[in-house]
Amino acid sequence: MDNNNTERKKVIFSAIQPSGMLTLGNYLGALKNWVAMQDEYNCIYAIADLHAITVRQEPAKLRKQIIETFALLLAVGIDPQKSLVFIQSHVPQHAELAWILNCNTQFGELGRMTQFKEKSQRHADNINVGLFAYPSLMAADILLYQADLVPVGADQKQHLELTRDIATRMNGVYNNLFTVPEPYIPKIGARVMSLQDPTKKMSKSDDNPNGYVAILDKPEDIMRKFKRAVTDSEAVVKYAEGKDGINNLMGIYSAVTGRSFDQIEAEFEGKGYGDFKTAVGEAVCEALRPVRERFDALMKDKAALEDIYREGAQAASRFAARTLSKVQKKVGLIGR
Ligand code: TYM
Repeated sequence: MDNNNTERKKVIFSAIQPSGMLTLGNYLGALKNWVAMQDEYNCIYAIADLHAITVRQEPAKLRKQIIETFALLLAVGIDPQKSLVFIQSHVPQHAELAWILNCNTQFGELGRMTQFKEKSQRHADNINVGLFAYPSLMAADILLYQADLVPVGADQKQHLELTRDIATRMNGVYNNLFTVPEPYIPKIGARVMSLQDPTKKMSKSDDNPNGYVAILDKPEDIMRKFKRAVTDSEAVVKYAEGKDGINNLMGIYSAVTGRSFDQIEAEFEGKGYGDFKTAVGEAVCEALRPVRERFDALMKDKAALEDIYREGAQAASRFAARTLSKVQKKVGLIGR
């Protein structure tokens, strides 16, 4: 990473859970921006495997998903020559800083997190301490790298606000520990909704697989899912209050093609929803086709992937160690 510029390049940090089934929502809300930011900023991206184990995982399946998600990051266009890319658990400073942040985060703050409330309902038999403390680990991820900007979808906004609160509070107590990060949430694509229930976020945990498009879905599956997408009975392609299904499809089409809502409305004037859904499906297939091809090629050379994540973790660790040691000293621990 080039730090020799007279003006310091901004640092970007973001991470993604190795869910194995990354969706179009992950792509448009986050990954697409991660790729776009690489030339302008110092970008650091991680596979959040420690976050993934806050819900019960099958070990063999998780290991496979971590590698696949790593390959998928490269396949969408994250370039290890330009960006640091690594697996969170390979950089031990994340867990170490998280402990210190836990001691500076209030029980009430974590209890208010809507994702915690949702997930504890969904996993009522396993409301573990990790699930509760998940946002302070996320804060540690970000603050370790003194990140300026964090590109995420809208569902992570509350966690980012908590990160800012923790950083600001600790800066007050311990004097200038952390850069206070800003969220970077795209105008279009920040909240891709389910194709079956457009009032709900598109998520791979949807019980109905027709609700989400996986980045690695085959073109025929993508087309089928878009053709079945829930819309309304008005048959006018127009962005308007109450037209959640059409609004969502317009958002997806706009994010993928770069066209504005006005242009899309003009393009489909006098045409039915069938034509529109086909066009959205085709545009998505076109955008994801090269990703799938690159993914297949990358998965054929596991040794090369291993080299990339090992090198990424080493470089990230050097960066992270600096912040951690500063924090340890300032809170009163004795350096190693
Ligand atoms: P995760 O793995 O759930 O999602 C990864 C990214 O995808 C975005 N996203 C969406 N965007 C638009 N529409 C959707 N339907 C949609 N679904 C998901 C998310 O907003 C996210 O940006 N806790 C984080 C991972 C994490 C992290 C971090 C993120 C760990 N440490 C530090 C930023 C900084 C998570 O579970 O994201």
